[in-house]
Amino acid sequence: MRLVGVNSLKPGDELARPVFTASGKIILNSGMVLKEAYIEKFKQLGINRVYIDDVRFEDVMAVQPIDITTRNEVAKVLKNAYTKIHNSEEIDEYTIKDAAKKIVDYVREYRDKGISMLSMDVVDEYVIEHSVNVAIITAYIGNRLSYTFNQLCDLVAGALIHDLGRENCAEEKPEHVETGFEMMRKLRGMSLNSSKVCYEHHENFDGTGYPRKLKGTGISDYARIVRVADYYDNVLHGSENNGVSVMPHQAFEVILAVSGSILDPDVVQVFRDTIVFYPDGCTVKLSNGMCGVVIRQNIGSPQRPVVRAFTDNDIIGDFNLLEDLTLFVQDIILS
Ligand SMILES: [Fe+2]
Ligand SMILES: [Fe+2]
Repeated sequence: MRLVGVNSLKPGDELARPVFTASGKIILNSGMVLKEAYIEKFKQLGINRVYIDDVRFEDVMAVQPIDITTRNEVAKVLKNAYTKIHNSEEIDEYTIKDAAKKIVDYVREYRDKGISMLSMDVVDEYVIEHSVNVAIITAYIGNRLSYTFNQLCDLVAGALIHDLGRENCAEEKPEHVETGFEMMRKLRGMSLNSSKVCYEHHENFDGTGYPRKLKGTGISDYARIVRVADYYDNVLHGSENNGVSVMPHQAFEVILAVSGSILDPDVVQVFRDTIVFYPDGCTVKLSNGMCGVVIRQNIGSPQRPVVRAFTDNDIIGDFNLLEDLTLFVQDIILS
């Protein structure tokens, strides 16, 4: 399979993976042959890229950072929580804890896989999508640290609820940290460590954040981890970057630029070992001018995957950029 930008889809292309909304509704299933009307619909819905079948890259499997069923279940739980908050009803913290456990279960099983949030097929409802993304990234970072299963579940629960004070809206007012914390601390089933993530996830490592201007290790471990995941997802999708969404490698450059000021540099270091810049199936331009599709990752070296170069008619060959150090990825091609 191959990941292509919606603008370069053609009628007759066959979907290799289903396309979902955040609430779990399938827009189109895998195996569907695309028509012009479907492609138009993708554009209207803001879906930027999809996986299509391509015989030249039959062996390429897009590894998702989490399976779509788990993701949909988690999104549903969060949607429910936001609705209840909106209606001033009690939320059920045990459903959130259960959702966190599902993420942790999955991530522990796939601990050696890298993550690229670019490869998600899910759209709409920004805050829910954002919170699920942040929880998944957090789980991968936490998994690289020596946390127990219970600590990991608490950490990921904290990530899931970090923006609950924001309600289901795009705007992120400073008060949302206190609102979220006040709501969460009252829930007997939610640990204080998880709830504190709501309160502290906008504190900066150098003491310039809010609400209390906490500094360094004065900020809880969980909040420092979620801060990195949160910041990365915000840069990736534009809300921390003047509304311009960027590619994972560009988002990571922003992360590196604020490591030590906004973000805890130790967490950023761990994050580097979990991230994938160029997801399997995406097309890249190499420094020698060749185009290729990423077929495999070298975890820990996100900038140097294995690439299958091709011309219009032929396959040139596979290049492991970790072995061939004269070559590097110049650009990602998704249009
Ligand atoms: Fe926030
Ligand atoms: Fe957030």
